[in-house]
Amino acid sequence: MFGSGEELEQLKEKVSFCKKCPLGENRLNAVFGYGSPDADLMFVGEGPGYDEDHIGKPFVGKAGQLLTKIIEAMGRTREGVYIANIVKCHPMIDPSNPEKRSNDRPPALKEMEMCRPYLDMQLKIIKPKIIVTLGASSTKGLLNNIETISRIRGSVREYKGIKLMPTFHPAALLRNQDLKKIVWEDMKKVMHYLDTCEI
Ligand code: URA
Repeated sequence: MFGSGEELEQLKEKVSFCKKCPLGENRLNAVFGYGSPDADLMFVGEGPGYDEDHIGKPFVGKAGQLLTKIIEAMGRTREGVYIANIVKCHPMIDPSNPEKRSNDRPPALKEMEMCRPYLDMQLKIIKPKIIVTLGASSTKGLLNNIETISRIRGSVREYKGIKLMPTFHPAALLRNQDLKKIVWEDMKKVMHYLDTCEI
């Protein structure tokens, strides 16, 4: 029997060769995920950007540094939670130019659909108690909702029997400081759920 760490490593290896969709053709690195295989809390972003594509880890750029601060304010570490994206490869406006900055775009629905089995497998292995979706793309990718992120954030949803809390993407907080307070309200609900199993 494999432990969850070994199972994740096997899946990571598989994802590193994935060419199921065109994103796999031009990315520099597949960005599988980062953190504890036994995490009770999992963050899901939209997809790797320039920095993540170059380094091979999720949320390592400016938005990632802010996410790290949020995680630490929750009394956690990046190593103790799990951080992943709804798509594992860098969605680019100009796919022929991974070396260009400001070439990021949100993933298309079809790309999210093609990649979602990998996230589903990560969830099956890690079994978090709660998922936090960061921004509109991953929220839509998992819930297939038609509400805007402003309306849906802070409400408790479910994905495959796991509690899910949508909130704003940290990149949105970099553009609008007022959103920080709102995200913190959402994270307080998440912490309460993790402490008490009540929400
Ligand atoms: N934005 C995301 O949604 N994911 C990352 O990994 C980095 C930035």
